[in-house]
Amino acid sequence: MGGAAVLAGLGAWLPPDVVTNADLAAVLDTDDEWIRTRTGIRQRHIVAPGAATSDLAVQAGVRALKSAGQEHVDAVIVATSTPDRPCPATAPEVASRLGLRGVAAFDVGAVCTGFVYGLATAAGLLAADVAGSVLVIGADTFSTILDPRDRTTRAVFGDGAGAVLLKSGAFGEAGALRGLTLGSDGSRGELIEIPGGGSRQRSTGRPVTDEDLYFTMQGRAVFSEAVRRMAASVRESAERIGWRLADIDRFVPHQANARITAALAERLDVPVDTFASNIDRVGNTVAASIPLALADDAASGRLRAGDRVLLTGFGGGLTWGSVALTWPELTVA
Ligand code: COA
Repeated sequence: MGGAAVLAGLGAWLPPDVVTNADLAAVLDTDDEWIRTRTGIRQRHIVAPGAATSDLAVQAGVRALKSAGQEHVDAVIVATSTPDRPCPATAPEVASRLGLRGVAAFDVGAVCTGFVYGLATAAGLLAADVAGSVLVIGADTFSTILDPRDRTTRAVFGDGAGAVLLKSGAFGEAGALRGLTLGSDGSRGELIEIPGGGSRQRSTGRPVTDEDLYFTMQGRAVFSEAVRRMAASVRESAERIGWRLADIDRFVPHQANARITAALAERLDVPVDTFASNIDRVGNTVAASIPLALADDAASGRLRAGDRVLLTGFGGGLTWGSVALTWPELTVA
């Protein structure tokens, strides 16, 4: 067939263990007030010892299939920066555990923009008629790669997974992805990175230490890049399909920091209450962030069929991207 990628299912999953700001303050030099006022975060979910990203991805995937009323898809894309193992990709295992043996399955790595990159990749598979339906799962377990002594990253990040099922359809129908825009700036890759463990370090022969494998972030610089890049990306997507920002019912931004969302709303000159926000309960869940926020909004009725919605992401790489759709009739699982 080939055509538009149409949203037909949505599911989300959070691991049950919760870490509150008070829990962090008991083990680190931080406090609830600092974390709340600087980030908007009150708690985050983390995986239990022994659990991995695929465990969350499978749970979200099951729910997206159920939401779409489907048991089969032709391809599974997992957006993640915390794969179960550096090699192979996590998606084939996820597909297999979902009973989808033999289908195309691969990972997409664009850190916090991973879900938007995953949607764009799925849209390409559908347009080229490689697949008739694709499961896109954003899943990350950043709790497993944070330096336990780093009060900043431990305050910000949480674990989770969210998934959507995209089907081939027509651009005019509700749920069709439109105005997809993607971008990157690799010259600023060091702002968000795991410095070691890759070929750059391994080819030196120097043994990998714990420090090499921890996630690092230059928070201030990331903050201003995030606002600037998401604002430009939102405008580009909206312009491409002839939407005025004032006509958009719901913006669903990557949940990086409540202050980033507020600054983005101000820069775009739209009311902040048109922006989805669940960061207080989940923190920054990286590739899971946008689908978790979508699921939250859809389940609570803040997103209704017919609403004009614009998703926007920003993350390591640096990478960014946005996509628009008219919200379809959908039951979140
Ligand atoms: N508790 C208490 N104090 C903390 C703290 C914590 N959890 N984390 C950092 N601090 C301290 C710093 O050590 C610093 O102290 P100093 O002035 O004595 O050196 C002070 O707070 C200010 O640090 P700074 O990093 O400048 O704060 P900030 O207002 O920029 O907030 C972030 C830090 C990380 C919350 C913010 O920069 C941010 O959200 N950045 C974007 C992060 C992000 O979303 N990354 C994902 C990519 S999408």
